[in-house]
Amino acid sequence: MYKLQSQEVYSEDERIRNMIKEVESSLFSSIEDLLKSQRNNIGSGNTAEVHHHDTNPGICMKIISEQVLLDRFDGVLPPFNSLSVEIDFMNRAAEHSGIVKTPQAYGHDIFEDEEGNKVHVLFMERLNAVSIRDIHNNLASLPKNFDMGLFFAELQKFLENLNEAHVYHGDIAEGNIMIDLETGHPRLIDFGKSKLVFSSEKPEHSDISDLKRVRRLLENKVNSLTNSGK
Ligand SMILES: Nc1ncnc2c1ncn2[C@@H]1O[C@H](COP(=O)(O)OP(=O)(O)O)[C@@H](O)[C@H]1O
Ligand SMILES: [Mg+2]
Repeated sequence: MYKLQSQEVYSEDERIRNMIKEVESSLFSSIEDLLKSQRNNIGSGNTAEVHHHDTNPGICMKIISEQVLLDRFDGVLPPFNSLSVEIDFMNRAAEHSGIVKTPQAYGHDIFEDEEGNKVHVLFMERLNAVSIRDIHNNLASLPKNFDMGLFFAELQKFLENLNEAHVYHGDIAEGNIMIDLETGHPRLIDFGKSKLVFSSEKPEHSDISDLKRVRRLLENKVNSLTNSGK
């Protein structure tokens, strides 16, 4: 059985606050089942599983279980930003959003079981979007109005603006870039490895060169689909 160890709710929206409260009260007993079941699972990454809310599909929960990570990484927790830091980066990025958008963060919880294992839960807006990784793995298709040149130009401009504000996303990869299904515009998620970097330091990764790799991956995918007549 888990107990709630800490909680922050940022949303001012009464409906969302109530919904988070309702989820929290059911999560104590259901986290383990939730993590085991694929029901409502809308994506997984290296650290987290993302589930949409049962009755409100517009809300999703990014769930990081320390026990799952310890099992996956041979007993050593990999570095990841605490969810309050991740949310801080989501909010910083949102200040620069225009055509490129990031999900709105609603709050986060830490649950803990008797053995001290923690489960971190981030509540956020669920995007109506597909990841480039899902497209690459044939789990989703490109929206009809997708414009490759414009998409990557907009994303690059967005990242350059963030970098200028000392924010480095730090994990520009196919699983963290999504395409809005309605507009075809870029959506950037997962600030779990983001950092503030000041000019005297050099970031380990360049967001812009990582973006170029993702673009090549998607271009190769589109070419292979075109050549196979799909
Ligand atoms: N706000 C969101 N709306 C819709 N899908 C999401 C959202 N956030 C994450 N996802 C899906 O869940 C997957 C894992 O989320 P992510 O934050 O990248 O976790 P990790 O830190 O483990 O990489 C993403 O690749 C994406 O498919
Ligand atoms: Mg990710």
